[in-house]
Order: sequence, then C-alpha cells, then structure tokens
Amino acid sequence: MTADAGLPDTLRDLPAWTPDAVELADLELILAGVYRPLTGFLGSYDTAMVIAGGRLADGTPWPVPVTLSVPKELTEHERIVLQDPEGVPLAVLRVTEAWQDPTTQDLRLAGPLEALRAPAHGPFHSLRRRPDEVGPHEGNVLTESPEGGRPPTPPGKVLTESPEGGRPPTPPGKVLAVATGEPLHRKQLGQLRQVAERLGAKVLVLPLLGGEHDDSLVRALLAVRRELPDGTQIIPVPLPARGEPKDREVLLHAHIAAAYGATHLLADREVEGPAIPVVVPEPWAYDADVEVWRPVARIEPDHVQAELTPERLGELLDAGEPVPDWFTPPAVAAELALARPPKLSRGITVFFTGLSGSGKSTVARGLADALVERGGRTVTLLDGDVVRRMLSAGLTFSRADRDLNIRRIGFVAAEITRHGGTAICAPIAPYAATRAEVRRMVSAVGDFILVHVATPLEECERRDRKGLYAKARAGLIPEFTGISDPYEEPDDADLTLDTSRMPPDEAVGKVLDLLVEGGWVRPA
Ligand code: ADX
Repeated sequence: MTADAGLPDTLRDLPAWTPDAVELADLELILAGVYRPLTGFLGSYDTAMVIAGGRLADGTPWPVPVTLSVPKELTEHERIVLQDPEGVPLAVLRVTEAWQDPTTQDLRLAGPLEALRAPAHGPFHSLRRRPDEVGPHEGNVLTESPEGGRPPTPPGKVLTESPEGGRPPTPPGKVLAVATGEPLHRKQLGQLRQVAERLGAKVLVLPLLGGEHDDSLVRALLAVRRELPDGTQIIPVPLPARGEPKDREVLLHAHIAAAYGATHLLADREVEGPAIPVVVPEPWAYDADVEVWRPVARIEPDHVQAELTPERLGELLDAGEPVPDWFTPPAVAAELALARPPKLSRGITVFFTGLSGSGKSTVARGLADALVERGGRTVTLLDGDVVRRMLSAGLTFSRADRDLNIRRIGFVAAEITRHGGTAICAPIAPYAATRAEVRRMVSAVGDFILVHVATPLEECERRDRKGLYAKARAGLIPEFTGISDPYEEPDDADLTLDTSRMPPDEAVGKVLDLLVEGGWVRPA
C-alpha cells in the first residue's frame, strides 16, 4: 500500500503502514514532546540498553523500549508514512536502522519522526493537551465543563476525612500527578488529597487511555474532580498496557507527569531514579466506627473495615447489586456498572464450532429460539452457511479465506456483544488461533462462550445431508474439512456436545443450562 492522497507530492509515493495501538500511542507521545528526549522509534542498541539498564545508549535514563514493528517488505525503504487505523497519515519515519528483535524475531524500524498532522481524537478530545499547551497549573479544566460532559456532581456526602487544619494557600509550583487506568475511589481520593495537602501541591490527574472503557474511565475521573483540590487538572494520555515490569511503568509515568509540569508523582511503589520524586501514600482504610476513610494509623484496629476486593466488586457488578457508597461515590459506581454490566443484561457471544454436519446449525437455531421465547435478550444468529452467502460471499475455503470469514463473524459478533446483544455463531471455524482471536475481540466488550459440537466425523459423514462428504471423498470438493483439510479440536471449549448421543432438544438444553448457571440467562 502507498500513502494516501492529501499528502505533499513528495510523500505520496512512500509506502504507508498502520502501527498497532501501543506504537500509535508512542508515536503521539513522541510527536507531542511527552517522550522528550526521544524524537523517534529506538534502534537495536538503544533498545538493548533500555531493557538491560533503563538507559539509552548515551546514558540518558529511559524506562521502556519504544519500538516499531513492520512487515518485511517495509524494511527496505528510507522513509515510510505512518497512518492511523482509518488511513490518515500522521507522520513520516526517516529510517535510520532496520533491525530484528533478538527475542521475538520481529522486524523493526528505527528513526526520527516528522509530524504530518495531529492524531484525531474521539470523545474528550477537548481535554487532550500537549505539554506545551499546559500553562502554569491554574486549573483550566475545573472552571469549564468539557463539551458533552456531564454537569459537575453536586457535593455529596463526604466520606473521606479532610486533612486537619483546613487548606493552606497553595504556593505556586508544586504539582502532584497521579497516572491511572482505574477510577479513583474514596480511598485513593483521600490519599491523593492528603499527599497534595502535605506537599502544598495542585493535582494533575492523568487518565491512561488504551482500553475498551476509556470513556468510562474519563467520566469516572471527571465525576470526582469536585472531591479534589481546586485547580485540579485532568489530561488524558494515550498509554495502552505494554506489559512492562511495574517499576518501569512507574518510571514511565513519572517521565510523562514531569513532561506535563508535575513535580511529584503519586504511585504505589518506590522506584530507582524517577524523573520526579515518587510519593507512596501511607495506607488508608475505612473506619467503620466514624464512617470515614482515614489513615490506618489513626483507626482503632477493630474498627478497620475490610477492603472491598476487586473480586467482590466484580461479583457485585455481575449480579447487578449496588456498589456500596462507603467504597466509591455513586457517580463512579454508575460508570463501573456501565463498563461491566450485570450478567443478565451483558452482551454475549455463543460460538459453536464443529465439523460440517455436526449439528451446529440445528443446536444454534434451537438456542436462538429458546432465548427469544424466554425473552430478555435480543438474539442475532450468524449461521455458517448464511454468513457465507451474505457477509463472506465470494470467499473460498483456503486457510486465508476461512480465517477472514471467521474474523468477519467475530467482528460482527463483537459489535453485537458491545451493545448488549446475544450473538450466536455457527461456522466450522477449524483453526484454534482464529477462534482465540474472536474470543479476544469479544471478551474485550462482553462475554464469550465456546461450544464444541464434537459429533464424530463418521456420524457427520453418515448424515451427509448436503451430499458434500460424498463429493469430497470423490475428490470433487478440495480442502474439505475433516476429509482433506484440518479441524483443530478446541482445548478451551466451555461446553462439548456430541449430537450423535442426544437429540437436538437435549443439546439446546445443555447450552441453556450453561447460560443459566453462568448468570447470563434467568432460570425458567
Ligand atoms: S469455515 O471453515 O470458514 O468456518 P463455514 O462454516 O463458513 O466454514 O462454511 C462451511 C459450510 O460450507 C459447510 O457446512 C459446507 O456446507 C460448505 N462447504 C463447502 N465447501 C467446503 C469445504 N471445502 N470445507 C468445509 N465446508 C465446505
């Protein structure tokens, strides 16, 4: 692919590439100057030095590898255009090194970036700032309500102890940042206020974007800004999880916070050599006696209320039960429930896989009917043969086309799931890796259930309702699954059915039972 129109003539013939989410976030942070002194993607030597010792080759501290993977055909160019997933060109990479990662064998390109245009941002774009747009921390965000945002939360019940002595006037200069991919609950709010107060610092909240629930995260943080000191700023930063060791992540957060003018970072651990001092808050707990969150040191031991564990919180949300007010403000609880709806109303995909003639379609149709009869869920059936006529018309049964077919089904199923629906899919889906890809896509937005219809090949062939097995045996259909093409048996099925051993009704009943036991469907 070459770069799109809308580019200067000199760039139009350059090859174009769409980096992945982490790389695009890195690109944005490099171009915005947040990653200064980095001006582009790292080469092999810098990367090795960063991984080994947290420093660039010239000795500058740098916590994480910032690299760009490309397919082989792109390694022979001097310049390439990097574009966003919609194909909008963002930057030109002047390649100084093409190298192979010694661990992953990925091919990578290094070199400085030249910006073409600012990345397009979705919701909350009005909150985004480049470091050079952040003036002295005078708190511009609190005074203006963001476009499309909610009105400020009315001051509610204060359940977090305010630091003694009221608020001293804040001397200019100090800014305490917190970088978070999670909402701030009453405990974290109390700790943040306590440390800000002690330092005499303003607060800068950096929501780390990069998940399915970015919008929910930002809304949950905007919702608590009234509980934070006046002048608190909220600036979303693109930073998807990159699987680096925790210490390195804190170092990166410190670097980013410093770029935005912070003088201190609130974090849950001490680290070696951060860009700005890291402050670890003292432990807080909920004092059940006086009903406030406060430092543990100030609570009678038998008044310390047990923390709500993430598991317990998940159970409450799954069951649609209220998240207690002592734990988090109601506006945050509402966002948590939106991001993880009760199972009864959460989107699900039930994905049947199995040989042709195994009974997938029959059981899938029976399940769809049963769910519609029970009510409470909207159902879309994506049957293998029907999809092949509509969504995937023209595709063959080569591995590449089968994978594309399954990815298309997965894409549609994930959209249905995202919107709280029930997608029932019934393709052969012979390849484990492709099924796993669909599981990932769907699980990011809802729940995924894999049903293996494991009717033996002999039985499928004996049924041969469409006469296809006979044709395949006669060599008239090449690459026929089970005969002349592979079927990789799942080892991750949530349910396995053999329709040669039970009538269709019973098979449907087993899937329904699973859905009821899992909490997705009300018992009859
Ligand atoms: S998949 O491999 O891409 O998942 P899919 O479920 O869409 O397959 O289509 C399978 C249906 O196409 C079968 O039920 C059968 O009716 C028909 N079919 C035609 N050719 C083949 C083939 N070579 N292998 C398997 N099924 C085939």
